[in-house]
Amino acid sequence: MTVLSPDAARSPDAPTLDVDRNFADSILAGLTASRKTIESKWLYDVEGSRLFDAITTLEEYYPTRVETGILERYAPDLAALMPPDAALVELGSGSSVKTRLVLDALPGLSAYVPIDISAAHLDVVARALSADYPEIDVQPLAADFTDRIVLPAGLAERPKLLFFPGSTIGNFDPDGALALLGRMRALPRVTGFVIGFDLIKDEGVLVRAYDDSKGVTAAFNLNLLVRINRELGANFDVDAFRHEARWNPTANRIEMHLVSRRAQTVSLLGQRIEFAMEESIHTENSHKYSVSGFRDFAAMAGWRTYATWTDAKTRFGVSVLLPD
Ligand code: SAH
Ligand code: AVI
Repeated sequence: MTVLSPDAARSPDAPTLDVDRNFADSILAGLTASRKTIESKWLYDVEGSRLFDAITTLEEYYPTRVETGILERYAPDLAALMPPDAALVELGSGSSVKTRLVLDALPGLSAYVPIDISAAHLDVVARALSADYPEIDVQPLAADFTDRIVLPAGLAERPKLLFFPGSTIGNFDPDGALALLGRMRALPRVTGFVIGFDLIKDEGVLVRAYDDSKGVTAAFNLNLLVRINRELGANFDVDAFRHEARWNPTANRIEMHLVSRRAQTVSLLGQRIEFAMEESIHTENSHKYSVSGFRDFAAMAGWRTYATWTDAKTRFGVSVLLPD
């Protein structure tokens, strides 16, 4: 939808903006609430996807490295769960790097459906994967997986292995995670669900993973304000905010915040948003689980845990869930 930018009322020469209504409504609702928030799914525009990939290479950000090691070791065990002609459906596929380990371990797979909200990034990744795996029918789905998932025609009735790596389930609060697990359970002909989750550990290790020494996670978080300025015509002074990672021991989660360095007012879609000095915008939760806690949680959504693989230091878990 095209709307006039807020400045257009003052200047006839001001450019118009193509505003994504879902994005605009979500940002406005979050920033006008008494405790300011931004939904973490908006972290992933093209630059956000690039910065996330940079995070995965950091020494301090252990989840990607550790989960990759687990999948390298155990992915071949998934072959027992795969009927012929099955499809792999991945939630939040990002750059589909771990996917390659699963595709290599399961040569019988005939189709791959990567689902991601970061549409332009998904397009590039799906093309590369298609070229590298010509025998697999790659059908990317640019969608929000918190909405109802409508699979491409012909796939609904095929056996499906669901794949949700990265501990992205941790970015949901318990109610949202349970709802997501329940929706996946209701999809037709699912033979299994492979899901990665991060484990509770030393607070210092966790905080460093989300506040790295090179400032890549800070750039990832601050990019939200750059995106809001560009796509919604806001006037955030990005340098007037700082990134913060906080461990919340009550909720077992790392929280990302953008903290206002001073009292300030920001214009956004015709509204004035006031910030007190040190007031924060809560931008992401990353919940951490125990192995038994995750098993009980999955059971509440109708999934039986067939296996949970962890690394030797029990930093990360990958569970294989079966429909009960
Ligand atoms: N699976 C990859 C990427 C994890 S990053 C890995 O394990 O490294 C999280 C991914 O989920 C991003 O690519 C992001 O664009 C996507 N994502 C986040 N919220 C989403 C949503 N609501 N719907 C669809 N994709 C989402
Ligand atoms: C995608 N998600 C699981 C990452 C996480 O660890 O919560 C996103 C992230 N945020 C900061 N660093 C990485």
